[in-house]
Amino acid sequence: MANKQFDVIVIGAGPGGYIAAIRAAQLGMNVACIDEWKSAQGGPAPGGTCTNVGCIPSKALLQSSEHFEHANKHFAEHGITAKDVKIDVATMIGRKDAVVKQNNDGILYLFKKNKVTFFHGRGSFVKAVDGGYEIKAGDETLVGRQVVVATGSNARALPGVPFDEENVLSNDGALRIGAVPKKLGLIGSGVIGLEMGSVWRRLGAEVTVLEGLPTFLGAVDEQIAKEAKKAFDKQGLKIELGVKVGEIKSGKKGVSVAYTNAKGEAQALEVDKLIVSIGRVPNTTGLNAEAVGLKLDERGAIVVDDDCRTSLKGVWAVGDVVRGPMLAHKAEEEGVAVAERIAGQHGHVDFNLVPWVIYTSPEIAWVGRTEQQLKEQGVKYKAGTFPFLANGRARALGDTTGMVKFLADAATDEILGVHIVGPMASELIAEACVAMAFRASSEDIARICHAHPSLSESTKEAALAVDKRTLNF
Ligand code: FAD
Ligand code: NAI
Repeated sequence: MANKQFDVIVIGAGPGGYIAAIRAAQLGMNVACIDEWKSAQGGPAPGGTCTNVGCIPSKALLQSSEHFEHANKHFAEHGITAKDVKIDVATMIGRKDAVVKQNNDGILYLFKKNKVTFFHGRGSFVKAVDGGYEIKAGDETLVGRQVVVATGSNARALPGVPFDEENVLSNDGALRIGAVPKKLGLIGSGVIGLEMGSVWRRLGAEVTVLEGLPTFLGAVDEQIAKEAKKAFDKQGLKIELGVKVGEIKSGKKGVSVAYTNAKGEAQALEVDKLIVSIGRVPNTTGLNAEAVGLKLDERGAIVVDDDCRTSLKGVWAVGDVVRGPMLAHKAEEEGVAVAERIAGQHGHVDFNLVPWVIYTSPEIAWVGRTEQQLKEQGVKYKAGTFPFLANGRARALGDTTGMVKFLADAATDEILGVHIVGPMASELIAEACVAMAFRASSEDIARICHAHPSLSESTKEAALAVDKRTLNF
């Protein structure tokens, strides 16, 4: 039987891949998307790390655990009595699984709606053929004129300490712990360390995070990171910086971690479970990249140019498997841009305007450059901050931690960075992204009417603060 022919074959249906497939189909191309992720029942589960063991399930657990903490610690302030508040972890995990499934099903529906042909199984290169590439999709063989690789990333393990997902957990196991551990350890106080640490601390675990670097959240604006650290310390999230992790032993009673602290003193941490969250590695396992000579770098990432073109004509790569931040929205933007480039359009991603959000409480969000980066780069800037403590809506919410911070060019007033730590930072940052995409000045934001009472008034006030004329502080 003749091989099935497609204009575009996308390998991987995470946010990079499934979005690329949909956009290519919207542009009139005949598209296949191959993904091997299996649900617990063995069926297809498109959506990749993000949907199955990343963004979506982590936010579901963050929500559940936040409700629990509110009921236990904050309802009383509102005059609400909630006695004997308990957490049924199985129900919480079941809800999280249901949220994941809704997203898996949503993507299958979108494939149908957009006439993307979905193949459940492993996708791998066979060989280059006249006018494209032969690609294996499970048991079938396809030919694609263009190929988009979106195979994502996997959790990085500590050398010699493989994940068993029972005691030593990656993000996968961390999202399906069956009961609240008495003591939980995390290696790495990055994004996963803080989000997962927050979930289980709120549910009652004693959480210790061991971080190798001497600074907390080094990529975050220092003032914002300091404010966040203060809040985490107050919550009882124990974060030890500047440690050197040594031997890790896992047994029936749990996990013991030997380490030296920042002073060089030998320490031991005994925990019931250990989450290792020390970054992720690009995934090209099973892709058979060598069959076609697809070039990888020393980290195993697929080498691409700014437009996501690989070393092979007609092969593109997007998302976590290439350079740049490992974020779902960055993967999506690249997926759209690649589909548009294949269609002969001018797809575009502004890598300087990719926002970051850490979904802790308080949330941390930023876009653009930090104050320390501007200093390093010798850029003359003005800074303005506004605390949520002075915002009426934040007071009404009972969540006044943190601030909004604006950094603007000293001469032109163009916004160079916006940094937020506080309630709903994940939503508030969108205004900054829009403003910066239009190259707005801080005065532009300061002159816009913001609804009252709203947290977004803090954004306007921080913009006013750049010119030292806040109205409510
Ligand atoms: P992936 O989502 O990893 O998808 C790759 C897909 O390709 C997978 O389904 C995989 O099975 C499939 N695949 C791989 N090889 C093959 C093959 N040979 N054949 C067929 N299929 C294959 N980012 C955010 O922006 N916001 C967040 O809140 C956020 N939270 C996160 C929380 C956690 C715990 C983790 C781990 C990550 C989080 N991320 C978050 C990061 C985000 O999940 C990734 O940046 C994003 O999923 C990358 O998308 P991708 O399409 O490149 O790859
Ligand atoms: P990370 O890169 O955010 O943090 C890893 C941390 O581990 C760093 O602080 C690093 O210094 C530390 N570390 C590395 N090796 C160590 C060692 N041997 N001992 C002690 N500390 C060590 O990586 P993380 O948290 O694993 O997350 C991976 C990626 O997933 C993130 O970078 C992000 O791209 C994505 N993600 C995004 C989220 C979001 O957008 N809200 C949520 C979760 C993950």
